[in-house]
Amino acid sequence: MNCKRVSHTLLCVTMFLASAGPTASGDDGYRLWLKYDRLTDPARLQTGRESFSAAVVPGHSTTVSIIREELKRGLDGLLGIDLLLNETLSETGTILIGTLRTSPTVGSFGWDTEIKRLGREGFLIRSSAINNQPVTVITANTEAGLLYGTFALLRLIQTDAPLEELDVTSRPRIEYRLLNHWDNMDGSIERGYAGQSLWQWDQLPGQIDPRYVDYARANASLGINGTVVNNVNANPILLQAEYIEKLRALADVFRPYGIKLFLSIRFSSPLRPASQAGSRRGGIGDLATADPLDPAVRQWWKDKAKEIYDVIPDFGGFLVKANSEGMPGPQDYGRHHADGANMLAEALEPYGGIVMWRAFVYDAETDPDRAKRAYKEFVPLDGVFASNVFVQAKNGPIDFQPREPVHPLFGALPKTPLMMELQITQEYLGHSKHLVYLAPMWKEYLDFDTHAQGPGSPVAKVIDGSLHDYPMTGIAGVANTGSDRNWCGHLFGQANWYAFGRLAWDHQLSAETIADEWIRMTLSRDTQVVQTVRSMMLGSWEACINYMTPLGLHHIMQAGFHYGPQPSYARAPRQDWTSVYYHRADSNGVGFDRSSTGSNATSQYFSPVRERFDNLETCPEKYLLWFHHVPWTHEMASGRTLWEEMQHRYDLGIADVEQMGRTWQMLEGRIDPEIFSHVRARLETHLKDATAWRNTCLDYFGKFAK
Ligand code: GCU
Repeated sequence: MNCKRVSHTLLCVTMFLASAGPTASGDDGYRLWLKYDRLTDPARLQTGRESFSAAVVPGHSTTVSIIREELKRGLDGLLGIDLLLNETLSETGTILIGTLRTSPTVGSFGWDTEIKRLGREGFLIRSSAINNQPVTVITANTEAGLLYGTFALLRLIQTDAPLEELDVTSRPRIEYRLLNHWDNMDGSIERGYAGQSLWQWDQLPGQIDPRYVDYARANASLGINGTVVNNVNANPILLQAEYIEKLRALADVFRPYGIKLFLSIRFSSPLRPASQAGSRRGGIGDLATADPLDPAVRQWWKDKAKEIYDVIPDFGGFLVKANSEGMPGPQDYGRHHADGANMLAEALEPYGGIVMWRAFVYDAETDPDRAKRAYKEFVPLDGVFASNVFVQAKNGPIDFQPREPVHPLFGALPKTPLMMELQITQEYLGHSKHLVYLAPMWKEYLDFDTHAQGPGSPVAKVIDGSLHDYPMTGIAGVANTGSDRNWCGHLFGQANWYAFGRLAWDHQLSAETIADEWIRMTLSRDTQVVQTVRSMMLGSWEACINYMTPLGLHHIMQAGFHYGPQPSYARAPRQDWTSVYYHRADSNGVGFDRSSTGSNATSQYFSPVRERFDNLETCPEKYLLWFHHVPWTHEMASGRTLWEEMQHRYDLGIADVEQMGRTWQMLEGRIDPEIFSHVRARLETHLKDATAWRNTCLDYFGKFAK
């Protein structure tokens, strides 16, 4: 973790510059959840000051310097103390932060076995004593673990957790916890709603924007340990020597924060550049083919991997979108996905790199039903992928819709580590204009019982590797960050970045707990405010589903832009980009029959999930129109007809957004004024645009229902 190229002085200066508190007019949201505003409860302040007045952090690496800085800054803010950084444990109330290797004192507690069990990134925080002097110990096996432990201690103080007799053991349940940036080389972000890309390619490698440091720091505070810096619709230019140097500069900033750099690559990179501007198919090489079985192509990738690792020795690996939405891939040469993935895996393997091969494919020739295609392509390849390949699947089988049933691939690839891709950026959930807290959605997927190995086979156990004993495990979130001062456009978008990181570390955390932490760290520690905001957040996803796509409706949004409603969208270059393909409304009813009388997508699930989804009577109503074409007159659990229920849901969604506005209004004066006005303005837009969703959809479907 020692980073020679970024000097410690530079880090200190940038950290200071980039994080200089709220502006005079209020809080601009830049500091995210790392505000460290002073505790107000006198008893807690006193306990904190007594327990954490000095620190001993042995070592000389950049990470150790970061730990000292973070602690100093956190305790200064939270407790108003000027932390003493000592060489020895002379003071009472010292925090000792070290590994068994860096601190002999840590070894004296007799915790060695426990510490070994923490693995590469876990940590232990424990109140103890040395010579009858109270001491708080943060220990781990690596400096990354120590950094995570430091952030965890600061979080405990910041969130009003009990500080006496600390005894916290934590290790991540998932190994690769990555952000995926869909950032383009021209600074735009595909599906990004918070400004431009954070990466200033024209300034790199010479100039290091202070935001890179703050970005890394924010991620480290959550335990995010990798980042794919560019769009899956990849531009191959990043593989050129000049850009590898720029990537090196970014990797150097991220490394001391425990973050590895990864790249999205274009499969056709070995080819000559495309003659057509904007083509997704050309490369940067001089070969006439990108066939993964061609020896020259294989050598090209091996040479490229060596070139990258010569410059970035801990480079993470490649993310690949192949044979999907016009991106080139092995099928262009009559090869299958595993041929492509394994070629890249072979090139990266000598250096410990990995391939994340996306399962977001939907070739119309595979099956008339888009929802079935990825499963049909990937299940036959289970066991064929090299050992350093992940298959990366989105949470649901279509595309990050407000609600989807879980992707049938989860549980269906016992021999292939399956990585889950979530979308933090709200492509289909109101961009950065709607307040939608996504943790409840992600929990719904993680907790869903696939029955892959009988009852008790939730998705969480698939991706944490415990169900199939995967040799490696991973989760990715499509980032919602950008150049906007508050990082995410909507202040509440920060909660989704936060929640993704926390769940990636520990998927057992509840959406409530995470919301609670985030509110206390970002908005207020006042219990009433916390409760009020939490209830707003927890209901926001269901509200969004109701005013956009209730009862299993999906993909009825505005073409291309994916913000407003467009259920009438019928003519597109591809049928499966229209809305009518998905909702299939007619005078009899609405919904896509994916049951055994229709496309039989239900057969891709394990029994008894399959039967439950297949039968109109047992299919959960939240997935009803996903799996069934249902008569308008069908009686719902509420006693209403389907059409009445649909109207009811749309109205309910709007009522909930109205309520959110009223609730927020009650908080005036109790949270920062700048944040208050920012969120209030967004909630006004939210209500207006949600209402448009309801009106358009009810008008449209009403024509059929009546
Ligand atoms: C969606 C999204 C695209 C993106 C694609 C992907 O279709 O709209 O912008 O490229 O997903 O995940 O590859």
